Amino acid sequence: MNFNLPILAPSILAANFLTLQSDIEQAIKGGTQWIHCDIMDGHFVPNISYGPGIVKQVSMISEDAFIDVHLMIENPDFYVDEFVHAGADLISVHYEACPHLHRSLQKIKSHGIMSGVAVNPATSLYNIEPILADVDMVVLMSVNPGFGGQSFIEQTYQRLQELVDLRETGEYGFLIQVDGGVNLKNIASVKGAGADVLVAGSSVFKAEDITARVQELSALI
Ligand code: DX5
Ligand code: ZN
Repeated sequence: MNFNLPILAPSILAANFLTLQSDIEQAIKGGTQWIHCDIMDGHFVPNISYGPGIVKQVSMISEDAFIDVHLMIENPDFYVDEFVHAGADLISVHYEACPHLHRSLQKIKSHGIMSGVAVNPATSLYNIEPILADVDMVVLMSVNPGFGGQSFIEQTYQRLQELVDLRETGEYGFLIQVDGGVNLKNIASVKGAGADVLVAGSSVFKAEDITARVQELSALI
């Protein structure tokens, strides 16, 4: 798949679920191609969001939308097939939730979609070094996963640099996604520090004019 980088990936966690379709259509009108879906199970993270049923409906809103599924759940292997059938184009699993991470990534890739690995703010990046050749994207968490609307953890800038260096040294091809607390104030510097895909939830969907906000954020990157 070919993408024009950088990419803005609005997270629908912050959308109004009673007007979800219209919220997403407004984001698409502003130029969004990726839709970030945050799946939370109340075990791996202390919050419950939504499941494959919603993802399927979301994926049917636009044929062109790229469905980026972020699994913040235990035992993600059990649910990969379901999210693929729901229309996922990329599935990210958490390093911290996968005792057999290599197997989990192979399972995702066996469906012919892209695979990602997400790392919590307190996880050393060296833990994922052995699988960096096997992933299409690394999700660098810039908040502790579980909730939208949290503040960006400043330490993320150093971690981004570390990840950029690891990618360069190993000549890897993965994309770098930064997820959590990205807003109008910091999006340009997060991009400047090396992010290819920038997730933005509250800053997109809590805006009065979603289309305009997508355009504003996109202009900054
Ligand atoms: C956090 C989620 C993020 C979050 C982004 O657990 O993975 O995707 O919803 O939302 P904001 O931009 O509000 O931090
Ligand atoms: Zn996310």
